Amino acid sequence: MSKNILSDSRDSLLNSLRKEITVYFPDELEDYSHGMSHTKRVCKIVEIIHEKEGGDLLVLSVAALLHDIARVHEEIGECINHAIKGGELAKEILSKYGLSDNIIDQIVYYIINHRSNQKGETLESKILRDADKLDCLGAISISRIIASSLQSRQYSRPIYDPLIPLNGCETASSLHYIILLIEKYKKGEIFLTETANTIARERIEIMSGFAENFKKELYI
Ligand SMILES: [Fe+2]
Ligand SMILES: [Fe+2]
Repeated sequence: MSKNILSDSRDSLLNSLRKEITVYFPDELEDYSHGMSHTKRVCKIVEIIHEKEGGDLLVLSVAALLHDIARVHEEIGECINHAIKGGELAKEILSKYGLSDNIIDQIVYYIINHRSNQKGETLESKILRDADKLDCLGAISISRIIASSLQSRQYSRPIYDPLIPLNGCETASSLHYIILLIEKYKKGEIFLTETANTIARERIEIMSGFAENFKKELYI
């Protein structure tokens, strides 16, 4: 099969899946941090890492697209772990698309493990985990953290709480959490691919600059 036919059939599969999964991202529960906007960013980051690191683009693209389909179930308390529930839903969805059992099993495995702190066993597993985590860094991260503080029941908190020291409780405010993420990353490389580490370093610089300026404008 030529490369063009492969990429046409991949695009057609992804288009069908994009339409099918809209039901898992209902408007009233749209969440900038974990909703469809996050999924679209993760899909793009996966492609960027894949360009440098390689891996199976079909498996990666589908896993990225479906990785958070059960997030809303977790938000409303219908499941405890959206990664596991997402794997179950993905298996049901993908069984209708004529993919081999082997491909479906790989995609389901990557979805179930997308939050795992253990090192991924395959390149695709590492790339999906890195892409998901990269969306928690940089200018997007700052927007996500502040949006979650205001939007999400789970992560509701003030933008800044002057009563709690900045090296105190990391969940006290958006600024506290941004500083926690910067420190966490600076303690060690937390990404599994070199491409993700390179992107992460740039994004941490952006966050550090934001935190420093925020503190400067608060005169603290
Ligand atoms: Fe997730
Ligand atoms: Fe995610």
